[in-house]
Amino acid sequence: MTNFPFSAPRTTWIEVSAGALVNNLRAVQTIAGPERPVMAVIKANAYGHGAAAVARILAQAGAARFAVATLGEAIELRAAALTQPILVLGYTPPQQAALALAHDVTLTVIDGETATALHAVASSQGRRLPVHVKVNTGMNRLGQRPEAIPGLLAHLRTLDGLEVEGIFTHFATSDELDKRHAAAQFAAFSALLADLTEAGLRPAIAHAANSAALLTMPQTHLDMVRSGIALYGLDPDMDECRLPAGFAPALSWKAIVTQVTDLAPGDAVSYGREFVAPRPLRTAVIPVGYADGFPRRPYTWGSVLVRGQAAPILGRVCMDQTVIDVSAVEQATGPVRQGEEVVLIGRQGDAQLSAEEVSRRVGTNNYDVVSRILGRVPRVYVA
Ligand SMILES: Cc1ncc(COP(=O)(O)O)c(C=O)c1O
Repeated sequence: MTNFPFSAPRTTWIEVSAGALVNNLRAVQTIAGPERPVMAVIKANAYGHGAAAVARILAQAGAARFAVATLGEAIELRAAALTQPILVLGYTPPQQAALALAHDVTLTVIDGETATALHAVASSQGRRLPVHVKVNTGMNRLGQRPEAIPGLLAHLRTLDGLEVEGIFTHFATSDELDKRHAAAQFAAFSALLADLTEAGLRPAIAHAANSAALLTMPQTHLDMVRSGIALYGLDPDMDECRLPAGFAPALSWKAIVTQVTDLAPGDAVSYGREFVAPRPLRTAVIPVGYADGFPRRPYTWGSVLVRGQAAPILGRVCMDQTVIDVSAVEQATGPVRQGEEVVLIGRQGDAQLSAEEVSRRVGTNNYDVVSRILGRVPRVYVA
Protein backbone atom coordinates (compact mmCIF):
# COMPACT_ATOMS: atom_id res chain seq x y z
CA MET A 1 0.00 0.00 0.00
CA THR A 2 1.86 3.06 1.18
CA ASN A 3 4.69 4.06 3.45
CA PHE A 4 2.78 7.19 4.52
CA PRO A 5 4.55 8.64 7.55
CA PHE A 6 1.63 9.18 9.94
CA SER A 7 3.89 11.34 12.09
CA ALA A 8 4.02 13.89 9.24
CA PRO A 9 1.53 16.71 9.76
CA ARG A 10 0.07 16.34 6.26
CA THR A 11 -1.00 13.68 3.81
CA THR A 12 1.51 14.85 1.24
CA TRP A 13 5.21 14.79 1.93
CA ILE A 14 8.67 14.98 0.41
CA GLU A 15 10.86 11.97 0.97
CA VAL A 16 14.57 12.74 0.87
CA SER A 17 17.05 9.89 0.70
CA ALA A 18 20.06 10.57 2.90
CA GLY A 19 21.80 7.67 1.19
CA ALA A 20 21.37 9.32 -2.21
CA LEU A 21 22.70 12.65 -0.92
CA VAL A 22 25.77 11.00 0.58
CA ASN A 23 26.29 8.92 -2.55
CA ASN A 24 26.08 12.05 -4.73
CA LEU A 25 28.49 13.96 -2.49
CA ARG A 26 30.97 11.10 -2.83
CA ALA A 27 30.50 11.09 -6.60
CA VAL A 28 31.12 14.86 -6.72
CA GLN A 29 34.15 14.48 -4.46
CA THR A 30 35.54 11.72 -6.70
CA ILE A 31 35.26 13.94 -9.76
CA ALA A 32 36.73 16.93 -7.92
CA GLY A 33 39.56 14.81 -6.54
CA PRO A 34 40.14 13.87 -2.92
CA GLU A 35 42.14 16.98 -2.00
CA ARG A 36 39.76 19.58 -3.43
CA PRO A 37 37.10 20.90 -1.05
CA VAL A 38 33.46 20.68 -2.14
CA MET A 39 31.26 23.65 -1.30
CA ALA A 40 27.72 22.27 -1.09
CA VAL A 41 25.23 24.78 -2.46
CA ILE A 42 22.13 24.49 -0.27
CA LYS A 43 20.38 27.77 -1.01
CA ALA A 44 16.59 27.92 -1.42
CA ASN A 45 15.98 25.33 1.29
CA ALA A 46 18.57 23.07 -0.34
CA TYR A 47 16.75 23.26 -3.68
CA GLY A 48 13.58 22.24 -1.85
CA HIS A 49 15.17 19.27 -0.08
CA GLY A 50 15.24 20.94 3.37
CA ALA A 51 18.36 22.97 4.17
CA ALA A 52 18.97 22.12 7.83
CA ALA A 53 18.66 18.36 7.41
CA VAL A 54 20.58 18.31 4.13
CA ALA A 55 23.37 20.36 5.73
CA ARG A 56 23.56 17.94 8.63
CA ILE A 57 23.69 14.90 6.33
CA LEU A 58 26.30 16.40 3.99
CA ALA A 59 28.44 17.80 6.81
CA GLN A 60 28.53 14.41 8.45
CA ALA A 61 29.51 12.90 5.10
CA GLY A 62 32.44 15.32 4.79
CA ALA A 63 31.25 18.41 2.88
CA ALA A 64 33.87 21.00 3.75
CA ARG A 65 31.90 24.19 3.11
CA PHE A 66 28.40 25.38 2.34
CA ALA A 67 26.90 28.16 0.24
CA VAL A 68 23.50 29.84 0.47
CA ALA A 69 21.83 32.76 -1.27
CA THR A 70 21.08 35.01 1.70
CA LEU A 71 22.25 35.82 5.20
CA GLY A 72 18.90 34.61 6.53
CA GLU A 73 19.51 31.18 5.04
CA ALA A 74 22.98 31.09 6.65
CA ILE A 75 21.58 32.02 10.06
CA GLU A 76 19.03 29.20 9.80
CA LEU A 77 21.90 26.78 9.27
CA ARG A 78 23.77 28.13 12.29
CA ALA A 79 20.56 27.70 14.31
CA ALA A 80 20.62 24.08 13.14
CA ALA A 81 24.12 23.78 14.64
CA LEU A 82 26.08 23.66 11.37
CA THR A 83 29.67 24.59 12.21
CA GLN A 84 31.31 24.52 8.75
CA PRO A 85 32.07 27.78 6.89
CA ILE A 86 29.00 29.20 5.10
CA LEU A 87 29.34 31.62 2.17
CA VAL A 88 26.43 33.91 1.24
CA LEU A 89 26.52 34.08 -2.57
CA GLY A 90 24.21 37.08 -2.92
CA TYR A 91 24.44 40.73 -1.85
CA THR A 92 24.35 41.45 1.87
CA PRO A 93 23.77 45.07 2.89
CA PRO A 94 26.45 46.44 5.23
CA GLN A 95 23.72 47.12 7.80
CA GLN A 96 23.65 43.35 8.28
CA ALA A 97 27.41 42.98 8.83
CA ALA A 98 26.98 42.69 12.61
CA LEU A 99 24.55 39.80 12.11
CA ALA A 100 27.00 38.08 9.78
CA LEU A 101 29.77 38.46 12.36
CA ALA A 102 27.54 37.24 15.17
CA HIS A 103 26.77 34.07 13.22
CA ASP A 104 30.24 33.58 11.78
CA VAL A 105 29.08 33.83 8.17
CA THR A 106 31.29 34.57 5.15
CA LEU A 107 30.00 37.27 2.80
CA THR A 108 30.46 38.00 -0.88
CA VAL A 109 32.01 41.36 -1.75
CA ILE A 110 30.65 42.80 -4.97
CA ASP A 111 32.04 46.34 -4.85
CA GLY A 112 34.48 48.54 -2.97
CA GLU A 113 31.92 50.82 -1.36
CA THR A 114 30.02 47.98 0.29
CA ALA A 115 33.32 46.43 1.32
CA THR A 116 34.39 49.64 3.06
CA ALA A 117 31.09 49.75 4.95
CA LEU A 118 31.39 46.07 5.94
CA HIS A 119 34.93 46.75 7.16
CA ALA A 120 33.75 49.69 9.26
CA VAL A 121 31.29 47.51 11.18
CA ALA A 122 33.76 44.66 11.66
CA SER A 123 36.68 46.83 12.74
CA SER A 124 34.48 48.75 15.19
CA GLN A 125 34.01 45.40 16.91
CA GLY A 126 37.68 44.53 16.63
CA ARG A 127 36.69 41.65 14.34
CA ARG A 128 37.62 40.46 10.85
CA LEU A 129 34.79 39.45 8.54
CA PRO A 130 35.73 36.71 6.07
CA VAL A 131 34.78 37.58 2.48
CA HIS A 132 35.02 36.21 -1.05
CA VAL A 133 35.27 38.64 -3.97
CA LYS A 134 32.86 38.13 -6.88
CA VAL A 135 34.22 38.59 -10.39
CA ASN A 136 31.88 39.19 -13.32
CA THR A 137 33.45 37.37 -16.24
CA GLY A 138 30.32 37.26 -18.40
CA MET A 139 27.30 36.20 -16.37
CA ASN A 140 26.68 39.93 -15.97
CA ARG A 141 24.82 39.51 -12.72
CA LEU A 142 26.84 40.28 -9.56
CA GLY A 143 30.43 41.41 -9.18
CA GLN A 144 33.00 43.59 -10.87
CA ARG A 145 34.69 43.00 -14.22
CA PRO A 146 38.20 41.46 -14.15
CA GLU A 147 39.94 44.74 -14.97
CA ALA A 148 38.52 46.32 -11.79
CA ILE A 149 39.55 43.48 -9.50
CA PRO A 150 43.26 44.24 -8.88
CA GLY A 151 42.29 47.74 -7.73
CA LEU A 152 39.47 46.36 -5.60
CA LEU A 153 41.76 43.80 -3.95
CA ALA A 154 44.44 46.43 -3.32
CA HIS A 155 41.73 48.52 -1.63
CA LEU A 156 40.56 45.53 0.45
CA ARG A 157 44.15 45.06 1.62
CA THR A 158 43.85 48.39 3.42
CA LEU A 159 40.69 47.31 5.29
CA ASP A 160 41.70 45.37 8.38
CA GLY A 161 38.06 44.55 9.19
CA LEU A 162 37.96 42.19 6.22
CA GLU A 163 39.75 38.92 5.66
CA VAL A 164 39.78 38.23 1.92
CA GLU A 165 39.67 34.46 1.86
CA GLY A 166 38.34 33.75 -1.64
CA ILE A 167 37.66 34.96 -5.14
CA PHE A 168 35.08 33.49 -7.51
CA THR A 169 33.13 33.74 -10.71
CA HIS A 170 30.01 32.03 -12.05
CA PHE A 171 29.35 30.51 -15.48
CA ALA A 172 26.32 31.42 -17.59
CA THR A 173 26.44 28.48 -20.00
CA SER A 174 28.56 25.68 -18.55
CA ASP A 175 25.51 23.40 -18.83
CA GLU A 176 25.37 23.82 -22.62
CA LEU A 177 27.14 21.66 -25.18
CA ASP A 178 28.64 24.76 -26.75
CA LYS A 179 31.37 25.69 -24.26
CA ARG A 180 32.68 28.75 -26.06
CA HIS A 181 31.23 31.36 -23.71
CA ALA A 182 32.08 29.34 -20.59
CA ALA A 183 35.64 28.84 -21.89
CA ALA A 184 35.96 32.58 -22.53
CA GLN A 185 34.72 33.31 -19.01
CA PHE A 186 37.25 30.88 -17.60
CA ALA A 187 40.07 32.32 -19.71
CA ALA A 188 39.30 35.78 -18.33
CA PHE A 189 39.23 34.46 -14.77
CA SER A 190 42.49 32.52 -15.25
CA ALA A 191 44.25 35.55 -16.70
CA LEU A 192 43.06 37.60 -13.75
CA LEU A 193 44.30 35.00 -11.27
CA ALA A 194 47.72 34.98 -12.95
CA ASP A 195 47.92 38.78 -12.70
CA LEU A 196 46.85 38.68 -9.06
CA THR A 197 49.44 36.04 -8.24
CA GLU A 198 52.13 38.18 -9.82
CA ALA A 199 50.98 41.22 -7.87
CA GLY A 200 50.79 39.24 -4.63
CA LEU A 201 47.05 39.88 -4.41
CA ARG A 202 45.57 36.44 -5.15
CA PRO A 203 43.19 35.25 -2.40
CA ALA A 204 43.83 31.71 -1.16
CA ILE A 205 40.66 30.08 -2.52
CA ALA A 206 39.73 30.66 -6.17
CA HIS A 207 36.56 28.92 -7.34
CA ALA A 208 34.40 28.84 -10.43
CA ALA A 209 32.91 25.43 -11.15
CA ASN A 210 29.21 24.76 -10.61
CA SER A 211 27.92 21.22 -11.16
CA ALA A 212 27.96 21.48 -14.95
CA ALA A 213 31.55 22.73 -15.00
CA LEU A 214 32.52 20.12 -12.44
CA LEU A 215 31.27 17.46 -14.86
CA THR A 216 32.41 18.86 -18.16
CA MET A 217 35.22 21.41 -17.65
CA PRO A 218 37.85 19.87 -15.37
CA GLN A 219 40.23 22.76 -16.01
CA THR A 220 37.83 24.99 -14.01
CA HIS A 221 38.03 23.05 -10.74
CA LEU A 222 40.73 25.36 -9.29
CA ASP A 223 40.92 25.38 -5.46
CA MET A 224 37.31 24.37 -4.74
CA VAL A 225 34.11 23.39 -6.57
CA ARG A 226 30.62 24.75 -5.81
CA SER A 227 28.08 22.07 -6.47
CA GLY A 228 24.32 22.24 -6.06
CA ILE A 229 22.15 20.33 -8.51
CA ALA A 230 24.46 17.29 -8.81
CA LEU A 231 24.31 16.74 -5.04
CA TYR A 232 20.57 16.31 -5.37
CA GLY A 233 21.05 13.80 -8.17
CA LEU A 234 19.48 16.06 -10.81
CA ASP A 235 20.82 16.91 -14.27
CA PRO A 236 22.43 20.37 -14.70
CA ASP A 237 20.61 20.43 -18.04
CA MET A 238 18.25 17.66 -19.05
CA ASP A 239 19.23 17.84 -22.72
CA GLU A 240 22.81 19.07 -22.84
CA CYS A 241 24.37 18.18 -19.48
CA ARG A 242 23.14 14.94 -17.97
CA LEU A 243 24.61 13.41 -14.85
CA PRO A 244 26.81 10.37 -15.48
CA ALA A 245 26.01 6.97 -13.99
CA GLY A 246 26.55 6.83 -10.25
CA PHE A 247 24.30 9.71 -9.21
CA ALA A 248 20.76 9.17 -7.88
CA PRO A 249 17.87 11.61 -7.36
CA ALA A 250 17.42 12.25 -3.64
CA LEU A 251 13.89 13.65 -3.65
CA SER A 252 10.52 11.99 -4.07
CA TRP A 253 7.18 13.74 -3.65
CA LYS A 254 4.32 11.59 -2.46
CA ALA A 255 0.75 11.88 -1.26
CA ILE A 256 -2.11 9.59 -0.39
CA VAL A 257 -5.51 9.38 -2.03
CA THR A 258 -8.01 11.16 0.20
CA GLN A 259 -11.25 10.23 -1.59
CA VAL A 260 -12.39 8.14 -4.55
CA THR A 261 -15.53 9.18 -6.47
CA ASP A 262 -17.65 7.98 -9.43
CA LEU A 263 -18.43 10.51 -12.14
CA ALA A 264 -21.40 10.16 -14.45
CA PRO A 265 -21.18 11.48 -18.03
CA GLY A 266 -21.72 15.25 -17.89
CA ASP A 267 -20.38 15.67 -14.33
CA ALA A 268 -17.83 18.50 -14.20
CA VAL A 269 -14.74 18.64 -11.99
CA SER A 270 -13.31 21.46 -9.86
CA TYR A 271 -13.53 25.27 -10.09
CA GLY A 272 -14.89 26.67 -13.30
CA ARG A 273 -16.23 23.24 -14.35
CA GLU A 274 -13.55 23.11 -17.06
CA PHE A 275 -13.42 19.33 -17.30
CA VAL A 276 -16.67 17.50 -18.08
CA ALA A 277 -16.72 13.69 -17.91
CA PRO A 278 -17.41 12.28 -21.40
CA ARG A 279 -18.23 8.84 -19.94
CA PRO A 280 -18.41 7.22 -16.50
CA LEU A 281 -15.10 7.82 -14.71
CA ARG A 282 -13.46 7.01 -11.38
CA THR A 283 -11.62 9.93 -9.84
CA ALA A 284 -9.37 10.30 -6.83
CA VAL A 285 -8.52 13.39 -4.84
CA ILE A 286 -4.91 14.12 -3.87
CA PRO A 287 -4.18 16.62 -1.08
CA VAL A 288 -1.78 18.73 -3.15
CA GLY A 289 -2.36 22.07 -4.86
CA TYR A 290 -0.80 25.19 -6.23
CA ALA A 291 0.00 26.47 -2.73
CA ASP A 292 2.41 23.54 -2.46
CA GLY A 293 4.27 24.31 -5.68
CA PHE A 294 2.06 22.09 -7.86
CA PRO A 295 1.35 24.61 -10.60
CA ARG A 296 -2.16 25.60 -11.67
CA ARG A 297 -1.39 27.53 -14.85
CA PRO A 298 -0.34 27.81 -17.61
CA TYR A 299 0.91 24.20 -17.49
CA THR A 300 0.23 21.55 -14.90
CA TRP A 301 2.03 18.34 -14.00
CA GLY A 302 -0.32 16.59 -16.50
CA SER A 303 -0.44 13.34 -14.57
CA VAL A 304 0.89 11.61 -11.47
CA LEU A 305 1.59 7.94 -10.69
CA VAL A 306 -0.85 5.56 -9.06
CA ARG A 307 0.29 1.92 -8.92
CA GLY A 308 3.00 2.82 -11.40
CA GLN A 309 0.47 4.05 -13.97
CA ALA A 310 -0.17 7.61 -15.16
CA ALA A 311 -3.29 9.13 -13.60
CA PRO A 312 -4.16 12.34 -15.50
CA ILE A 313 -5.11 15.54 -13.70
CA LEU A 314 -8.75 16.53 -14.31
CA GLY A 315 -9.96 20.13 -14.19
CA ARG A 316 -8.28 22.98 -12.38
CA VAL A 317 -5.63 22.39 -9.74
CA CYS A 318 -6.96 23.97 -6.50
CA MET A 319 -4.98 25.62 -3.71
CA ASP A 320 -4.45 22.40 -1.76
CA GLN A 321 -6.28 19.66 -3.65
CA THR A 322 -6.34 18.16 -7.13
CA VAL A 323 -8.58 15.59 -8.81
CA ILE A 324 -7.03 12.80 -10.88
CA ASP A 325 -8.50 10.17 -13.19
CA VAL A 326 -7.91 6.64 -11.88
CA SER A 327 -10.26 4.87 -14.30
CA ALA A 328 -7.46 3.19 -16.29
CA VAL A 329 -5.59 2.25 -13.11
CA GLU A 330 -8.73 0.57 -11.77
CA GLN A 331 -9.38 -1.24 -15.04
CA ALA A 332 -5.87 -2.69 -14.92
CA THR A 333 -5.51 -3.43 -11.23
CA GLY A 334 -8.82 -3.13 -9.34
CA PRO A 335 -10.32 -0.54 -7.01
CA VAL A 336 -8.21 2.40 -5.85
CA ARG A 337 -8.70 3.11 -2.17
CA GLN A 338 -8.42 6.01 0.24
CA GLY A 339 -4.89 6.03 1.71
CA GLU A 340 -3.14 4.65 -1.39
CA GLU A 341 0.21 6.10 -2.34
CA VAL A 342 0.41 8.60 -5.19
CA VAL A 343 3.82 9.64 -6.56
CA LEU A 344 4.28 13.16 -7.92
CA ILE A 345 8.06 12.89 -8.32
CA GLY A 346 10.01 9.68 -7.99
CA ARG A 347 9.61 5.96 -8.49
CA GLN A 348 6.62 3.74 -7.99
CA GLY A 349 7.18 0.11 -8.86
CA ASP A 350 8.92 0.05 -12.21
CA ALA A 351 7.61 3.48 -13.20
CA GLN A 352 9.38 6.79 -12.68
CA LEU A 353 8.19 10.37 -12.89
CA SER A 354 11.39 12.40 -12.75
CA ALA A 355 11.79 16.09 -11.90
CA GLU A 356 13.24 16.43 -15.41
CA GLU A 357 10.09 14.96 -17.02
CA VAL A 358 7.89 17.20 -14.86
CA SER A 359 9.93 20.25 -15.83
CA ARG A 360 9.41 19.44 -19.50
CA ARG A 361 5.66 19.32 -18.97
CA VAL A 362 5.54 22.47 -16.87
CA GLY A 363 7.83 24.41 -19.22
CA THR A 364 10.73 25.08 -16.85
CA ASN A 365 13.82 23.30 -15.52
CA ASN A 366 14.28 20.72 -12.77
CA TYR A 367 15.88 23.32 -10.40
CA ASP A 368 12.63 25.29 -10.55
CA VAL A 369 10.38 22.24 -10.06
CA VAL A 370 12.05 21.06 -6.84
CA SER A 371 12.93 24.42 -5.31
CA ARG A 372 9.39 25.73 -5.63
CA ILE A 373 7.89 22.93 -3.52
CA LEU A 374 6.85 25.03 -0.58
CA GLY A 375 7.91 24.65 3.03
CA ARG A 376 4.43 23.59 4.11
CA VAL A 377 5.03 20.18 2.52
CA PRO A 378 6.74 18.15 5.28
CA ARG A 379 10.17 16.74 4.47
CA VAL A 380 10.81 13.23 5.70
CA TYR A 381 14.36 11.84 5.68
CA VAL A 382 14.90 8.17 4.94
CA ALA A 383 18.01 6.06 4.71
C1 LIG B 1 26.98 31.49 -7.63
C2 LIG B 1 26.53 30.07 -7.71
N1 LIG B 1 27.43 29.08 -7.59
C3 LIG B 1 27.10 27.78 -7.68
C4 LIG B 1 25.79 27.40 -7.88
C5 LIG B 1 25.45 25.94 -8.01
O1 LIG B 1 25.02 25.63 -9.29
P1 LIG B 1 24.55 24.14 -9.67
O2 LIG B 1 23.32 23.88 -8.83
O3 LIG B 1 24.24 24.22 -11.11
O4 LIG B 1 25.66 23.24 -9.31
C6 LIG B 1 24.81 28.39 -8.02
C7 LIG B 1 23.43 28.00 -8.28
O5 LIG B 1 22.76 28.48 -9.16
C8 LIG B 1 25.19 29.76 -7.93
O6 LIG B 1 24.29 30.74 -8.04
